[in-house]
Amino acid sequence: MNNIHKLFELAEAARKNAHIPYSHFAVGAAILSQEGHFYSGCNVENISYPCGSCAETGAIASMVAGGDTQIAEILILAEGSELITPCGACRQRIKEFSSPQTLIHLANSSGVQKTCTIAELLPLAFAEKDLMK
Ligand code: THU
Repeated sequence: MNNIHKLFELAEAARKNAHIPYSHFAVGAAILSQEGHFYSGCNVENISYPCGSCAETGAIASMVAGGDTQIAEILILAEGSELITPCGACRQRIKEFSSPQTLIHLANSSGVQKTCTIAELLPLAFAEKDLMK
């Protein structure tokens, strides 16, 4: 099984467990770390709406808890007629653990619709260089 296929299956499995009683919008995310490990996450909503978290947040937290800090590839899976892209906050979260080579796969149930880089998703990002000033 190739990496994209495995990432898709993991994101799909996580998405099935999304806790979405308020938006009814299920999202799954899966990561392949630079170290070669796979992680996944789903969105988890809360009756106090701002306490909810995105699928990407869960997958990144799982990766960090597993001891890895570099995303080689991340696949985000959601359903919609248009291309679904990560929210602004998740772009910043992905950026923290990405390199210019990190592949970000945007998928729906039919498969990956687009693969992009963090520079495309978050141009002019706030980054380490800004704190060094
Ligand atoms: N959501 C994600 O999981 N990832 C994103 O990048 C965008 C939004 C979730 C949050 C909320 O549970 C639902 O989708 C609707 O916004």
